[in-house]
Amino acid sequence: MNALRRWAIALGVLALGRKQRRPRFADRPRIVPPGAPDPRAEWLVLGLLLGAAAAAAGFVVVYSFNHLSHQTQYLGLSLGLAFAFTAAALVVVAKRLVVTEELEEDYPVPGHPTTQEELEQLVAEGGDRFTRKRLLLTGAGAAAGALGAAVFVPALSLGPFLDTDALYETPWRRGRRLVDEHGKPFLLDELERETFYTAYPEGADKEEVGSPLVVVRFEPSELHLPAGRRDWAPGGVVAYSKICTHAGCAVALFRKPTFRPVEPGPALICPCHYSTFDPTRGAKVIFGPAGRPLPQLPLLLDRENGELLAAGNFSGPVGPSWWGVRSKAPRNPS
Ligand code: FES
Repeated sequence: MNALRRWAIALGVLALGRKQRRPRFADRPRIVPPGAPDPRAEWLVLGLLLGAAAAAAGFVVVYSFNHLSHQTQYLGLSLGLAFAFTAAALVVVAKRLVVTEELEEDYPVPGHPTTQEELEQLVAEGGDRFTRKRLLLTGAGAAAGALGAAVFVPALSLGPFLDTDALYETPWRRGRRLVDEHGKPFLLDELERETFYTAYPEGADKEEVGSPLVVVRFEPSELHLPAGRRDWAPGGVVAYSKICTHAGCAVALFRKPTFRPVEPGPALICPCHYSTFDPTRGAKVIFGPAGRPLPQLPLLLDRENGELLAAGNFSGPVGPSWWGVRSKAPRNPS
């Protein structure tokens, strides 16, 4: 029984006991005066670091909610607190835990092996007061990790990382009527030539990125659409997604030439960075940063009442580009 107790004590000492390391520069005269440990300051630093970690984690949690009232204020508050706690922890470390030395001469110039060692000794002796280095490093790691996450998480809003399927969905399908913002159907005979109209899918959410169209009517002889799209523009009416393929602004301007043939041809223009698209040639990019044409919607004419209908879905994905944007065709939500 006694032997068992002695073994238990030995194991406890091995597990809990601390190995006393001889300080690296113990055999040299000190450069920095010795400093007494300050456990209260260490606990205070640890508390502040954990506070910073909690505040930064709070930022990530608040950010992950979609509809939270005063979300911007909470985001600012949590991030501000995270930085304030970190700053306070650094101030306490500087004021109460790093031993301050006073040198009468300048610091030695680094580079020479001797002066290099002196500098190392300065740094080592400056940390004399730390008695819970591992605990403090864990707290610092937690604060740095949470702050890193707070910086990284908003980048996820730049777009879906792996699942891009939702970006291919649009409400357009064959037979869906084009209507204006009041729900009135577009009639071919009511469309003036070279005038800019905005249309939406009847019965669908106008706010969806795949909904809005720009509609322009030309003389059919003016159109030079890509091969395979000859019957996409009944009566010379073309329809394109209104969402710019550069960064997703609304294409809101139409350039109508008034002094032909001196002036350049008609164009759809995005006012954000001036991407310019030629509506007579499948909205191909003729100026600006957009990397691909506006997707075109094929149209049908209802012969009975003259209404314009969609003949299918867009020629390509709507909106700004992403990695692999050309790999799939648009589709309706399942
Ligand atoms: S968003 Fe249209 S040009 Fe940049």
